[in-house]
Amino acid sequence: MKRRTILKASAGLAALPGLGMLVGCGPKGETVAGFEEGMYLAGNFGPVEAEVTETALEVEGALPRELVGRFVRNGPNPIGEVGSKHHWFLGDGMLHGIRIADGKADWYRNRWVRGRGVLEKLGESAPPSAPSSSPNTHVIGHAGRTWAIVESGGPPVSMSYELETVGEVAGWDAYTAHPKIDPDTGHLHALCYNWAEWRDHIKYLERTPDGHTVKSMEIPLAGMTMIHDMALTERYVVIMDLPVTVSFLALGTGYRFPFRWDPEHEPRIGLLPRDGGPGDIVWSPVSPQAAFHPMNAYEQPDGQVVIDVCRYDRMFEADVNGPFGDSLPRLDRWTVNPQTRTVSETIVYDRPVEFPRCHPALNSKPYRWGYSVAAEGPAFPGILKHDMQSGSVERMNFGPGRHGGEPLFVPREGGSAEDDGYLMTFVYDQGSDRSEFVVLDARDMGRPPLAIVRLPTRVPYGFHGSWIPDAEVGPA
Ligand SMILES: [Fe+2]
Repeated sequence: MKRRTILKASAGLAALPGLGMLVGCGPKGETVAGFEEGMYLAGNFGPVEAEVTETALEVEGALPRELVGRFVRNGPNPIGEVGSKHHWFLGDGMLHGIRIADGKADWYRNRWVRGRGVLEKLGESAPPSAPSSSPNTHVIGHAGRTWAIVESGGPPVSMSYELETVGEVAGWDAYTAHPKIDPDTGHLHALCYNWAEWRDHIKYLERTPDGHTVKSMEIPLAGMTMIHDMALTERYVVIMDLPVTVSFLALGTGYRFPFRWDPEHEPRIGLLPRDGGPGDIVWSPVSPQAAFHPMNAYEQPDGQVVIDVCRYDRMFEADVNGPFGDSLPRLDRWTVNPQTRTVSETIVYDRPVEFPRCHPALNSKPYRWGYSVAAEGPAFPGILKHDMQSGSVERMNFGPGRHGGEPLFVPREGGSAEDDGYLMTFVYDQGSDRSEFVVLDARDMGRPPLAIVRLPTRVPYGFHGSWIPDAEVGPA
């Protein structure tokens, strides 16, 4: 086993470009409903202090031999003193990855995304190619490379196969944590924003599988909405313009996180024709609510657009350091009629779930199976499999003191059924204070895991990840 301990920490700044400048504390003695001081620095929300490389990994059960590649997830891992009002969404990005092949687990690695701020805090010199930021929200394989990505300002950061930081691409601008891949073309579609600099618009980008930008347009908005995610259908890009916006009044309180519930902002869903421009967007009002993540979206034969989404009654209102203090997420279906510009809202599953995923080949298309993690406040005790046609749900609990994360669905090679594949996630075990990489059979949620790989450290609660096969992004 080889370990390298990098640092103890020094000063802290936010990972998100533009957010780092907002370091500070709220008014002395202020209490915020739903927010416990320091909660995002405690337990498994708290950062790990060391980068680790482990090659002696034991596999319990059997890793499917067809899986050759890496499971990599991104999340915040702040360096140094960040203050008790630290927000979960801030913090320097750290990738956690496991490489598997031939039924074996070859390595586990965790690595900070070395933007200039991270390099400074680690006491390392910054090469000219050092990225401007340290994206902390998602990691994807695209155009033959591994990318750490984030919304709100910083461009994608290229990472090596072994998760070392490579750099940015010249000319690439603010991006998003949630580009969507068209399964037919491989094109990446992205709604990007830079709240500190753009203020009144977002950008829609489309990039080819080899990384060329083939479409870039500005979309004017009434305010700087937090547009965290998006959805695709065969003909549309779905824009969720909901009432969480940048609040300069809130910034005056000294909290670092700039987005707040905005009752004055008109909530609406936009359908941007893929071959159209900003003037072609069909906007439809929707009830006031917040949402980060759609599970999927598609068009019905009658032309209506279905959007399945984890949504919240309120967000960043009383609990300014949310997301879980004001309300918990619920899985709803929005059916948008572009002719009448109306949205029908129905409850699909009324218990709190988040981080929804589906079969990647059915993104933007009619589908049956969705997957989510139970999000019972700041706890993630089980994975759910949703039959989006019948509404029935199966749930697998991780067990006492055990919590998971985003369940990533990976189709089985040669499988034909929509749910014929694997669910991958990291599971944190409170008893051992370590995490595991777990592979489940998506067809049988009651079956014990197909494989468990115990990791040498814990993986803090983070956000999003990808299964990146060697066939798509291989070793250099
Ligand atoms: Fe997200």
